[in-house]
Amino acid sequence: MSERTSDKAGASYKVIDSGDYADSFDHKQAFALDVLVGLSETRKTLSSKHFYDERGSELFRTITRLPEYYLSNCELEILENQKQQIIDTVGAEPFNLVELGAGFGRKTKILLKDLLDGGLDFNYVPIDISESAMKELVESCSELFPKLQTTGLVSEYFSGLKWLNNRHQRRNVVIFLGSSIGNFTHAEARIFLRNLWSSLNNDDLTVIGFDLKKDIELLLAAYNDSRGVTAEFNLNVLRRINEELGGEFDLSKFRHFGTYDVFSGAMESYLVSLEQQTVYIKTIGRTFEFAPWEPIHTEYSYKYLIDDIERLAAETGFCVEEHLFDSRRYFADSIWRARKEASNGKS
Ligand code: AVJ
Repeated sequence: MSERTSDKAGASYKVIDSGDYADSFDHKQAFALDVLVGLSETRKTLSSKHFYDERGSELFRTITRLPEYYLSNCELEILENQKQQIIDTVGAEPFNLVELGAGFGRKTKILLKDLLDGGLDFNYVPIDISESAMKELVESCSELFPKLQTTGLVSEYFSGLKWLNNRHQRRNVVIFLGSSIGNFTHAEARIFLRNLWSSLNNDDLTVIGFDLKKDIELLLAAYNDSRGVTAEFNLNVLRRINEELGGEFDLSKFRHFGTYDVFSGAMESYLVSLEQQTVYIKTIGRTFEFAPWEPIHTEYSYKYLIDDIERLAAETGFCVEEHLFDSRRYFADSIWRARKEASNGKS
């Protein structure tokens, strides 16, 4: 684990090595292994977690400002209009505010301001896999909120949760905003939330952003924006393979395709090969064949019903405190409380 401190007063973040792989693997090797496994499947896949290098994080920031990408505006509206509700539910006792997948934290800064204005006593622990986004986030936090103690962790969610495990001196409020949970399949979401539950104490809170099921045309427009930023964001994973792993992908020979699966309730992103091609990746030391129109699956963005959210909470040991909605009910920030009493034999 290495620690970098920025020159701006007090802003610091730690880089935690991925807990998913043994220490002998560095991040590049882990990425290469994922690419090898994903592109060797009959149905080729590349995980969306590899979208977020410096350029990918920047492209996603551009997406959040697109008119078609309603998700960010809906959540901003919730955080702005329902701050008192949030302050009341969180309560006055000191806590760690832990944020999973913080990114640049545009929405979070609104929440931080609300909580500080509300007089709550907390420190802020953003966790994100993008070191460039983290550097910018901790620096801007120390400028905007000089009295707020901020410690960033550059790591994957699970390593971040492991770190959380060793911090039990304060209660925890874990926020997971922006519908990041949508990237998990339902099975993965259950595993993730059960892991989160294990890292929490009884009565700790979590606030999770869910994108809700809605008119399919709105979904399709949000993931196929007219300026083509989403296409560029999706193609960036190939650019990243070229840059970091010596890949020889010609990006003009792949096309972004975003579609909605009505059965699973997920928006799915693909990169479709426009012709028969063979692509060499130097670090992996082999070539990969693509048939004309062959897809690579790159992302799930699951959409939820309130019933789905409540079932997920119940299945993983949480009690729903409340759902906060935007005025159009496109999006929900759902506040859950970890429940551990029953397992202690108390009622
Ligand atoms: C950052 C995972 C919430 O799934 O909506 C945006 C990423 N993908 N446009 C999402 C994304 C295509 C986004 N999340």
